Amino acid sequence: MYTMKKICSFVLASALTAVCFSGCDSTSNDMEEKFQIGVVQIIEHTSLNTIRETMLEELEKLGLDESKVEIDYKNAANDQANLNTICQKFVSDQKDLIVAIATPSALAAANATEDIPIVFSAVTDPVSSGLMSDMEHPDSNITGTSDFVDAEKILELAFQITPDIQSMGLLYCSSEPNSKVVIDKAKAYLEAKNVDVKIKAVTNDAEIQQAGTSLASEVDAMFSPIDNTVANNMSILSEICVDKKIPFYVSADSMVSDGGFATEGINYVDLGQKTAEIVKQIYDGTAIADIPVVILKDTKTYINQTVASQLGITIPEDISQSATFFE
Ligand code: TRP
Repeated sequence: MYTMKKICSFVLASALTAVCFSGCDSTSNDMEEKFQIGVVQIIEHTSLNTIRETMLEELEKLGLDESKVEIDYKNAANDQANLNTICQKFVSDQKDLIVAIATPSALAAANATEDIPIVFSAVTDPVSSGLMSDMEHPDSNITGTSDFVDAEKILELAFQITPDIQSMGLLYCSSEPNSKVVIDKAKAYLEAKNVDVKIKAVTNDAEIQQAGTSLASEVDAMFSPIDNTVANNMSILSEICVDKKIPFYVSADSMVSDGGFATEGINYVDLGQKTAEIVKQIYDGTAIADIPVVILKDTKTYINQTVASQLGITIPEDISQSATFFE
């Protein structure tokens, strides 16, 4: 079957070459025939790298290997201006598709083009970030995958493990709409529980150390949403929280493995695979309107054992039985 296909495509290719030799002004070569995918990532942190790496592996498994697609990967080093430049270049290079990893990348891609298909990955809330109005029925050039996890689920875990929390500090980056939506929900949940809430927003990586230190000295525990700037600074924040002896609840498995205390989170390997499946559907000609946004429903509990020991926290039996532990 494979050989047959190969022979067929050889015959077809030869026929096309013959046609081109006999008259058409062809500049076509192997490169140009490949499907051009621009991949843009806001920053390199563990979760986003996992998504990109699994997506690329999965594309190969789905038959979109180097012979069929050309991948142009760019990361913006957590800088909005870089994101815009990268996306505008993808548009002027006439990419066939853009994969945008995380919300800030997706927004920059959406600003740059209304024509080239955009597949976003790990966008916490595509609707409230303004990418689309209906996740079931995409009505533009944009669809993708979301890593939304209800903040309540994570905070419930927090009160199961450390029930005596009376004040909680919420830390996030104000330029990330993915975080703002979760912060609002977390605040409402905590206030309804009569927990004292303190919120600190940073605007970039450089402000993390100071904001984290001052917040950690005012509260019993801290929480951060799926925030790229926080995720990029987990080792600093982990040190601060361990030093102040407070648990730092986070929103992704990678933030726990990078030194956060605990979370309830989705699996980013699965998310990367789903992102690849959507790319394949578009490659095969499926209309974006027929590709609803994929949201992963299953979450697992992730706990950092080293941090738990450093804080002297014992994990209740019923939680530890089903949790995944990082050292
Ligand atoms: N959900 C984030 C966004 O919308 C991106 C993201 C994915 C992320 N995994 C993460 C952020 C882990 C921090 C930690 O931009």
